[in-house]
Amino acid sequence: MSNNNQVIIKTENLTKRFKNVTAVDGLNLEIKTGHIFGLVGPDGAGKTTTMRMLAAIMDPSAGDAVIAGFNLRKQAEQIKEHIGYMAQQFALYGDLSVLENLNFFADVYGVRGKTRRERIEQLLNFARLTEFTERRAGRLSGGMKKKLGLACALIHSPDILYLDEPTTGVDPVSRREFWDILANLHVEGTTILVNTPYMDEAERCSRVGLMHNGRLIEQGTPNEIKALIPGELMEFKPVSDHLGGVGILRKADKILANQEGVLEVQTYGDLMHVFVDNIEQRRSQLETALAREQITMANFRRTAPRMEEAFISLISKMESKQVE
Ligand SMILES: Nc1ncnc2c1ncn2[C@@H]1O[C@H](COP(=O)(O)OP(=O)(O)O)[C@@H](O)[C@H]1O
Ligand SMILES: [Mg+2]
Repeated sequence: MSNNNQVIIKTENLTKRFKNVTAVDGLNLEIKTGHIFGLVGPDGAGKTTTMRMLAAIMDPSAGDAVIAGFNLRKQAEQIKEHIGYMAQQFALYGDLSVLENLNFFADVYGVRGKTRRERIEQLLNFARLTEFTERRAGRLSGGMKKKLGLACALIHSPDILYLDEPTTGVDPVSRREFWDILANLHVEGTTILVNTPYMDEAERCSRVGLMHNGRLIEQGTPNEIKALIPGELMEFKPVSDHLGGVGILRKADKILANQEGVLEVQTYGDLMHVFVDNIEQRRSQLETALAREQITMANFRRTAPRMEEAFISLISKMESKQVE
């Protein structure tokens, strides 16, 4: 059914202005059929506003979009039939059972009769909720609530699924399980747009877009995004006899940031991640510089940048550009 080269969501200069803020600023986005597209960015970046516009529940201030072949401004109702939307604060009916919630959403979307019965059975299976059909939604665990929310968003078999931070506040095991369910949907050909603050989730997307201050600053496959940061990455733990904790990190950061060949320094817990032009060439130079302050490098290793490093690097570059 799905043609993987077809663009199913295309926005043109999509913009949303509120009183004091341009929440989404001239967004040009292309999402292909069957992809999992991750919209990644810090709080306030404009992810939710983008999703609300694409769900046709908030009018853009400027720009337009075509979704599943329909025009956002002129054919909102048709678009709604083709999408499932799980908002970040989605509402289940706490007093209703799992099954009653599914029936409620089936009513809303006009899914009836045999189709409804089959669809509900399939979704219960798929979301691994079959044993809990009679339990009140209000008494489900956080992870199970999210899975029920997902099942409700899928009741009308949409081609496109929008998920706004679907696993925020969910424990790691449930997060993984939720993503396994998304992987199954992906295999079945559903196009998924997901907002996420989690970099490990961004890694699981076909493509990601990095959003910052309402703008899309980069988009590409996770590997393409990671390849954007220049240099090689070394990791170590700075150790000193007289300095500890944050003090040593600050000191080491200051020393390294001014060294030739150092492109960027990031800290992770008590580890330092240092991007240099060439590790072979710079390692002893940096060791010497730190040794002058009686700091040594423990647990040294060369490592590959993850989405997290790429993301922090790209965002901090954006922010320093804005300051200039
Ligand atoms: N209804 C609203 N009225 C005014 N400002 C809003 C409204 N919704 C969002 N904003 C502002 O728009 C910006 C983007 O918000 P949002 O889309 O929620 O970002 P994200 O989902 O990435 O955290 C923020 O500065 C936010 O305060
Ligand atoms: Mg949001």
